[in-house]
Amino acid sequence: MFGRRTAPIEAPSAAPADAKPRRTAAAAPKAAPKPAPKAAKPAKKAVPAAPPRVAKTSSSEQAPTSQPVEIGGRSDEYFQTKTTIFNALIDTIDLSQLAQLDTESAAEEIRDIVNEIISIKNVQMSIAEQEALLQDICNDVLGYGPLEPLLARDDIADIMVNGSSRVFIEVGGKIQLTNVRFRDNSQLMNICQRIVSQVGRRVDEASPICDARLPDGSRVNVIAPPLAIDGAALTIRKFKKDKLRMDDLINFGSISPEGAKVLEIVGCCRINTLISGGTGSGKTTLLNCMTGYIEHDERVITCEDAAELQLQQPHVVRLETRPPNLEGQGEVTMRDLVKNCLRMRPERIIVGEVRGPEAFDLLQAMNTGHDGSMGTLHANSPREALQRVESMITMGGYNLPSKTIREMIVGSIDVIIQAARLRDGSRRITHVTEVLGTEGDTIITQDLFIYDMDGEDAEGNIAGRHRSTGIARPAFWDRARYYGREAELAEALDAAAE
Ligand SMILES: Nc1ncnc2c1ncn2[C@@H]1O[C@H](COP(=O)(O)OP(=O)(O)OP(=O)(O)O)[C@@H](O)[C@H]1O
Ligand SMILES: [Mg+2]
Repeated sequence: MFGRRTAPIEAPSAAPADAKPRRTAAAAPKAAPKPAPKAAKPAKKAVPAAPPRVAKTSSSEQAPTSQPVEIGGRSDEYFQTKTTIFNALIDTIDLSQLAQLDTESAAEEIRDIVNEIISIKNVQMSIAEQEALLQDICNDVLGYGPLEPLLARDDIADIMVNGSSRVFIEVGGKIQLTNVRFRDNSQLMNICQRIVSQVGRRVDEASPICDARLPDGSRVNVIAPPLAIDGAALTIRKFKKDKLRMDDLINFGSISPEGAKVLEIVGCCRINTLISGGTGSGKTTLLNCMTGYIEHDERVITCEDAAELQLQQPHVVRLETRPPNLEGQGEVTMRDLVKNCLRMRPERIIVGEVRGPEAFDLLQAMNTGHDGSMGTLHANSPREALQRVESMITMGGYNLPSKTIREMIVGSIDVIIQAARLRDGSRRITHVTEVLGTEGDTIITQDLFIYDMDGEDAEGNIAGRHRSTGIARPAFWDRARYYGREAELAEALDAAAE
């Protein structure tokens, strides 16, 4: 058999010599290869059906963080058996030869050998357990091991691995500990290595920090020992194939219908917009929704660290930054991309995330005829977002007085939309704020829309409502009129003030 070592499998003395492998009732399904195989069949307990793709906001339905969420219903005993069988498998097969096979044949080979080991070692297992074990072992050898069932679930937003035995997931805005674990830190490192090698990178003691992407587009960050003290830390932001749309955000209560109307007008009237928010607050999702209002005849250029946006327009050029290669060369930064964009005759520039000196170039683009450009940045309030832009420009080494930088900010950014993840796990748009001008050295802003919190309901969900602040004529009124949308704007603001 290809890939098998010559040494026979050692049978424990207790095992009867004629023990036959237990046959599964149905033909064993082929082990699904990466990127997203089906979750393994349950061993004992039924796998809870994956919740709908829509993140829930109810905290009452979440398992408490202290109790691990069961994924695939694996018991401690199961993990022990799996380790024994896995070790026997590694002694039996030659992994380097196995690597030369295509995934399907390699999975077939592994299944044959594992069935034989189970039979020789006389391991008592139900058919379902055996099927789950075969699937898990194929995942370990050929895929992303224990991560596979998590990667297959569409309702998980983030997977956070803190060393081999603590794996957290974020579902419905809540972080939960799972019972998923790796055999040991070296298995975790192997899987990290497998992930990053697909994008031509390496993660080890010499280069312990690495960003990568899974084949399905999910964003990955690995930080390995010795920097990560308790074993490698792996963070995956799952790529959602079915991106949330503005209607979904309205249904979740992230924004009111009137607020969404104002955002629609902001998006289609080519108003320069920054989306601000904390980590995982829904900035990219909101940016993606806002791009939905761009006219189909506009030439749009997007610049991202990892392509997450899904623009539906026909005239879009998508650009992505590039990290340095193993020799530390060939890096293309966000600043390089934004600067280059300006030579590509864009009508709008969309920057996935502004985090450095590219802020200067984006402001310049906004200022020089690329109206309707957009970007996101990390900040906890619209005011803080403006401070962040200023400090990004200052830190970029531009020797400009702060008054000049502020004037530049005011001349470029029209609206800041603030997104937040509240403590009940729900995401809300908390502010739609206009940047009006400067008074002395201070930037003047005005809130158009805000989210008022009224406290918590019995289930711990935050109650509140979106309302307009009573401003009847926002500063972008003339622009809305230019695009023939002023009546809708007035109607939305009026309705939300009641
Ligand atoms: N309004 C919303 N309601 C429910 N879930 C949401 C909402 N907005 C975003 N999400 C989900 O939250 C997760 C994080 O969203 P997103 O990537 O947009 O956040 P982000 O602020 O860009 O994060 P990061 O700071 O890591 O870039 C995604 O799984 C997304 O589907
Ligand atoms: Mg983002």
